[in-house]
Amino acid sequence: MLKQIIKGFLDHLGIEVRRVRLPDPPGSPPIPDRELYRPLFSPWLGGGDFRRYYELAAPKTLVSPDRCHVLQTLLRQALHVPGDVWECGVYKGGTAGMMAAMLQDAGSAKRLYLFDTFAGMPETHATKDWHRQGDFADTSVEAVTRHVGHADLCVISQGFIPETFAGLEDSRVAFAHIDVDIYQSILDSLAFIWPRLSIGGFVVFDDYGFPTCPGARAAVDEFFKDRPCVPLCLSTGQAIAFKSVT
Ligand SMILES: C[S@@+](CC[C@H](N)C(=O)[O-])C[C@H]1O[C@@H](n2cnc3c(N)ncnc32)[C@H](O)[C@@H]1O
Repeated sequence: MLKQIIKGFLDHLGIEVRRVRLPDPPGSPPIPDRELYRPLFSPWLGGGDFRRYYELAAPKTLVSPDRCHVLQTLLRQALHVPGDVWECGVYKGGTAGMMAAMLQDAGSAKRLYLFDTFAGMPETHATKDWHRQGDFADTSVEAVTRHVGHADLCVISQGFIPETFAGLEDSRVAFAHIDVDIYQSILDSLAFIWPRLSIGGFVVFDDYGFPTCPGARAAVDEFFKDRPCVPLCLSTGQAIAFKSVT
């Protein structure tokens, strides 16, 4: 839409904009899926399975296509790791609905555990967080339950993390998506999940690199400072912690 408005404006001024494509060197083989090189291979700009699952998330998520592509890729990897899939920070259920559909279609026996207040952020840290108590309150557990569906494989838990982890002490986790944005919620989520994460499993932090979430990076760096795991910071803003030793 914005592109069309800008194009219309430039047309009005008589300025023609064309994408310039450098020719392949003579004799070089054609690049498969060339239109997805912008400038590097960016499969989240394409169609296929990625797009089909992303469309389930899109109307309800704050998570951009490139970050959803990271989630989809790691979820497919997690199918081969013992344990369930957890998401801390569900909001309107966008990424949750996408992951639930993927688990269902894969015929996986894994369950998807979903944790949120569904009533907005709890109290936030006065100096570490930009978010404030009550942010993200425009949702409800009923609306999310309807949107996510797949009631047979989803376990939706409403309330404050870490209280809502009570009773799950014997859990095993293959993959956790921690998307709670704030310092204390990330530390509390990690403190419970990391010891229960299978070897070969991983945690994705959605907010690690966002300037609006300084508490997220502080919590992740603090948690892993003295542990044998070095989180991988991605250009999407996410970070991933892979568990290779206990
Ligand atoms: C950015 S939103 C999640 C976005 C979502 N994954 C999506 O697809 O758009 C962050 C969520 O974390 C939740 N949250 C943060 N701290 C929490 C805590 N301690 N307990 C429960 N929910 C929490 C908020 O209520 C909010 O809904």
